[in-house]
Amino acid sequence: MTGTWTPESWTAQEARHLPSYPDAAALAKVTDTLTSFPPLVFAGEARALKADLADVAAGKGFLLQGGDCAESFAEFHPNNIRDTFRVILQMAVVLTFASKQPVVKVGRMAGQFAKPRSSPVEVQGGVELPSYLGDNINGIEFTPEARIPDPQRLLQGYSQSAATLNLVRAFSTGGYANLRQVHQWTLDFMSRSPWATRFEEVSTRIGEALDFMQACGIDPQTVPQLQGTSFYTSHEALHLPYEQAMTRQDSLTGDWYDTSAHMLWIGDRTRFEGSAHVEYLRGVGNPIGFKCGPSLAPDELLRQLDLLNPGREAGRITLISRFGDDKVEAGLAPLVRAVKREGHPVVWSCDPMHGNVIKAESGYKTRPFDRILREVSGFFAVHRAEGTHAGGIHIEMTGQDVTECVGGAVAISDAALADRYHTHCDPRLNAAQSIELAFLLADMLNAEAVDRAQRAA
Ligand code: PEP
Ligand code: CO
Repeated sequence: MTGTWTPESWTAQEARHLPSYPDAAALAKVTDTLTSFPPLVFAGEARALKADLADVAAGKGFLLQGGDCAESFAEFHPNNIRDTFRVILQMAVVLTFASKQPVVKVGRMAGQFAKPRSSPVEVQGGVELPSYLGDNINGIEFTPEARIPDPQRLLQGYSQSAATLNLVRAFSTGGYANLRQVHQWTLDFMSRSPWATRFEEVSTRIGEALDFMQACGIDPQTVPQLQGTSFYTSHEALHLPYEQAMTRQDSLTGDWYDTSAHMLWIGDRTRFEGSAHVEYLRGVGNPIGFKCGPSLAPDELLRQLDLLNPGREAGRITLISRFGDDKVEAGLAPLVRAVKREGHPVVWSCDPMHGNVIKAESGYKTRPFDRILREVSGFFAVHRAEGTHAGGIHIEMTGQDVTECVGGAVAISDAALADRYHTHCDPRLNAAQSIELAFLLADMLNAEAVDRAQRAA
């Protein structure tokens, strides 16, 4: 049985992966301050995203969710925000153009700071310190002082999120995302990728389609969808004192929303039964992501779905599977079958990143691009076999030309990882690898559509 929900009812449950602050009064002062700050998003926007995701759950559309593993204070720069936003738009253009399905764009941006870690401590050269937990908690520098959780960092995280969101909103609606610009989005280093030619072809064909529509009297002045786009934000709702402080009651509906982002997700390490994170998120009206890893049993998933979405509202839940390329087919199928049997309207999204981390010979943590693709193919194969919609992708990526994941058409070798390995946490796809993935996804989505049409015939 579940009790009455309040923004702080999670405190009675088991909360894993929360930092322990040496000065509780200092934390309380910061969360009081945050409670008085403006919300970052408006409840109506979260409802709009939920409506878009409800279409995806019904098989009409695709969710593209991507961005940093962990945003950082050091990498906070308008060019980085612009480049990641641009690659997400480019991926969306490729996917929309090839699949003729609307693409719902959600950034792992403007709030993705706090990280669950596999170990609470890190050892370097025989010295043991508390692990780095994300820039809004402690510092990445390997010193005892930096690793002490400092609540003031939450305020810097809030302000960086607000500025990032402001820029992303400006890009989305202020002309940057105008489809007429699609040619100009090409990044210099993409020209080294064989996929750059295919992107050029897509841009040319979009340009021709726009010329044709303009001749018919349809142009960006008359159709706002051609001028701008919807872009939403998301992060893992890990730091519950922060999320609680950002919780507001919507003046229109009286419902509670977590106003730190449009969509929040529950990580694989905090989705267990009895979790404080599940308790917190069950009471807010936002769309919720739920990570599904190899240790999740179908009956447990169904109980969590009943708790998080008792009204079975479509668009409320996105299930993000992250099994690893060798486990996805056997692991995902029983979950898909159980959810389908019980009639839960969910979006199924594939996170091909978190089950495919390896340590390269060079010592860097990396993810081989071919394993990422194999997990995506396995995800599509399961949905094809079960007659369900492969509804989305969840990736760690950046618009920068980094060398963090090995492989891809502009092959990054193990030896090259040291060149531009900048991530604050897990290895990300770079711009060229992200575009390449979008083209391969588009082919898989088309195959799904052909399959569906054949079944219907
Ligand atoms: C993440 O998305 O950054 C993450 C930690 O994923 P997971 O909870 O699936 O391990
Ligand atoms: Co990660």
